[in-house]
Amino acid sequence: MKLFFPENLERYAHQHSSAPSPLLDRIERETMNNMPDAQMLTGRVEGTFLQMLVRISGARDALEIGTYTGYSALMIAEALPEDGTLVTCEVSKQHAQIAQGYFHDSPHGRKIGLIVGPALESLNSLGSESCDFVFIDADKPRYPLYYEESLRLLRAGGIICADNVFWSGKVLDPEDEDSRGIAVFNDRVRDDDRVCKVMLSVRDGIYLIQKR
Ligand SMILES: C[S@@+](CC[C@H](N)C(=O)[O-])C[C@H]1O[C@@H](n2cnc3c(N)ncnc32)[C@H](O)[C@@H]1O
Repeated sequence: MKLFFPENLERYAHQHSSAPSPLLDRIERETMNNMPDAQMLTGRVEGTFLQMLVRISGARDALEIGTYTGYSALMIAEALPEDGTLVTCEVSKQHAQIAQGYFHDSPHGRKIGLIVGPALESLNSLGSESCDFVFIDADKPRYPLYYEESLRLLRAGGIICADNVFWSGKVLDPEDEDSRGIAVFNDRVRDDDRVCKVMLSVRDGIYLIQKR
């Protein structure tokens, strides 16, 4: 697992956060054992933070951009009310197939609709002002585009949570396409009066944004 803080502090935060459900632990364990890019999985601290946001905000309809093996999707789905919905978008058929298997094994899986394909195309098919909570966690160069789409899809007062906004510190001196995508996104959000926002140093940086 990639570390963003000294290992002892990461462990300390982990130990002082609620334990995820057994299925979430299984997803994390199997992803670590079987997947080449396992550090992409959000993990206990950030995942539980997402759950808290969903519960505190009272979100009913959620959207995720970037499913991977389904960890954060199931975190969000567990926190949604019984009539809640989550649309999660994933371009990789392999990732989608793995995630779908876990959704089948969860009583909260029936809340989740997985759309396979490039996320921008998938988002296009969704109605404006149809969701309360968006988690952006896919390809970094498209973050500015995902942001605009998310604002279109959110109801007033809805929340965007964007992951990896520090990109391991590379946003300070963005030289590659991923870093530049995130840096453009971060600056755009900062300068955008349509939202209020706070950048949090949780894990690899989370931008918490509320549509006015
Ligand atoms: C960081 S991982 C998501 C991790 C997941 N949210 C979690 O915490 O378990 C990013 C995912 O976005 C997917 N992805 C990359 N580009 C995409 C695109 N254009 N449309 C949809 N998904 C994309 C990748 O295949 C990968 O599974």
